[in-house]
Amino acid sequence: MSEAGNTNGESTDAVATLLTSAQIIERVRELGAAITRDYEGRSLVMVCVLKGSFVFAADLARAIALPLRVEFLGVRSYGQGTSSSGVVQITHDLENPIEGEDVLLVEDIVDTGLTVAHLLELLRTRLPRTIKVCALLHKPARSATPVPIDYLGFTIEDRFVVGYGLDRAEVYRNLPYIGVLD
Ligand code: IMP
Ligand code: MG
Repeated sequence: MSEAGNTNGESTDAVATLLTSAQIIERVRELGAAITRDYEGRSLVMVCVLKGSFVFAADLARAIALPLRVEFLGVRSYGQGTSSSGVVQITHDLENPIEGEDVLLVEDIVDTGLTVAHLLELLRTRLPRTIKVCALLHKPARSATPVPIDYLGFTIEDRFVVGYGLDRAEVYRNLPYIGVLD
């Protein structure tokens, strides 16, 4: 147990550690190595879904040894609460075309799958050469639509998690580990 209030200054809710910083770092290295192998001789465009994937994407990018471009896609799928609305709003679009590119969509977590399904549909209209999905976390218990996850960090139970980029009401993104709120 650690106190999130120490780093966020706003909340004193207890956060129980689910995945330690060391576990995450190790897994991200493995994902980066697998991606590097699979795309050998090619270059990649990482499309990072904001805001949640910003920490994961920063570490993943540095674990990939390929010519790499980074693009951001701002998406809002949650309100201030902890339940999915299923509504995906684009808050920031890609700045450059992805036509003919090998694209890796980078997400923090696939929960119902609605966000990734929607984004894949959107990105395919821009004619990338290939498109794959890399997600740090997957909560299969809540799946509402099947989505392919080509590279997955961890499968977790149906608990609301925070840290390493993930928030609850915009707080906790800066925790270096992934925790469960009680
Ligand atoms: P989905 O559309 O239901 O798959 O939800 C995807 C988005 O919901 C993720 O990119 C997160 O931003 C958010 N989300 C889902 N589960 C959690 C969680 O446990 N903690 C924090 N954010 C979550
Ligand atoms: Mg997200």
